[in-house]
Amino acid sequence: MTNTESRTAAEHSHDATQRPTAGAKNDRYLRALRRQPVDCTPIWIMRQAGRYLPEYRATRARAGSFLGLAKNPELACEVTMQPLDRFELDAAILFSDILTVPDAMGLGLYFAEGEGPKFERPVRSAADIDRLGVPDMEGELRYVMDAVRLIRRTLDGRVPLIGFSGSPWTLACYMIEGGGSDNFARIKAMAYEQPDQLHRLLEVITRAVIAYLDAQRLAGAQALQVFDTWGGVLSPTLYREFSLRYLQQIAAALPRGKGDDQAPLVLFGKGNRPYLSELAASGAEAVGVDWTIDLDEARRRCGPGVALQGNLDPTVLYASPAAIEREAARVLEAFGPGDGHVFNLGHGISPDVDPAHVGVLVDAVHRLSRRPGNG
Ligand code: CP3
Repeated sequence: MTNTESRTAAEHSHDATQRPTAGAKNDRYLRALRRQPVDCTPIWIMRQAGRYLPEYRATRARAGSFLGLAKNPELACEVTMQPLDRFELDAAILFSDILTVPDAMGLGLYFAEGEGPKFERPVRSAADIDRLGVPDMEGELRYVMDAVRLIRRTLDGRVPLIGFSGSPWTLACYMIEGGGSDNFARIKAMAYEQPDQLHRLLEVITRAVIAYLDAQRLAGAQALQVFDTWGGVLSPTLYREFSLRYLQQIAAALPRGKGDDQAPLVLFGKGNRPYLSELAASGAEAVGVDWTIDLDEARRRCGPGVALQGNLDPTVLYASPAAIEREAARVLEAFGPGDGHVFNLGHGISPDVDPAHVGVLVDAVHRLSRRPGNG
């Protein structure tokens, strides 16, 4: 069943009245982040441009590799647009990776087939940290800014464009471990044994992250998300010292722009449930949560001052369309009435999900959350 076949003709004509007309802006996503009223709850999906889409796999094959794709602005733009051409998503996200920053810092990113990301020159000593500096955003990272500019032009106002970065802690995990890790032994040993060295590393990464997000905004990104994928592996004491502190610095220091061009900052963290009130108090405009908390509770912990993004369990997409609709309804209901909800998965979509199920989810979220009279 495709996205189109799953809906009746009546639903289509109803949709047509809700959908922005050609050329008009769909700004539901930005309105929700600003906690303004919307006609229905906006949705985008973490990793929406990726391997679950056959057209992505085809473009990646043409590029030769994932990095070949990410470093080519035309191809990065092409794959950014692919999920939008299939589904009524309310935002586009720059096609890139969080590891572009350490790569530009000289660590030599590569992908070993079937093994995930790796660095040729991981950070292993104080001298390695001394050598690190903030990369030139229009130099080593120009390909990212060129992609942002091209995607923004190509979108032509269709939906807003999200820029992103990894969090300092999450980037440090990859930089020190040299790739993915099961137990984060090296970086945690460093946190316990040489906290000053780890802080020196996190400080230079934080400066790079702020410059990177700022450059993406200036190139055209309309919202900025920080992915703290690995904050949840820390004890509360270590989380506050090595992850939260730097997220707070980013929220405080990152320029957002002026007036209508203000780009909200979203702090997403896997396993951030114990720290929601602190994240909400950081000054970020929104907090992204995983699926291990109900949104009514997340809302209580965050208070009324931030928007919330989330939080369907990504594995729900393996279930039947009926189950997907039911679980989407549950997430919407948990958030409850009021403004400030951006629907998303609680983490990235898996590569073996049936794309038709994404269509079911996107349409269900819009239909079930429709608020007559708004927008
Ligand atoms: O959301 C989007 O559609 C934008 C694109 C995006 C990618 N990576 C593309 C990508 C984003 C936002 C990221 C962020 C990212 N990258 C994170 C944080 C988000 C999260 O999931 O918590 C992390 C930890 C990374 C590091 C990274 N890059 C990993 C772990 C992998 C997967 C390796 C594998 O083989 O499974 C990548 C590669 C990557 N980044 C892919 C995509 C689509 C798959 C590469 C491929 O085509 O084979």
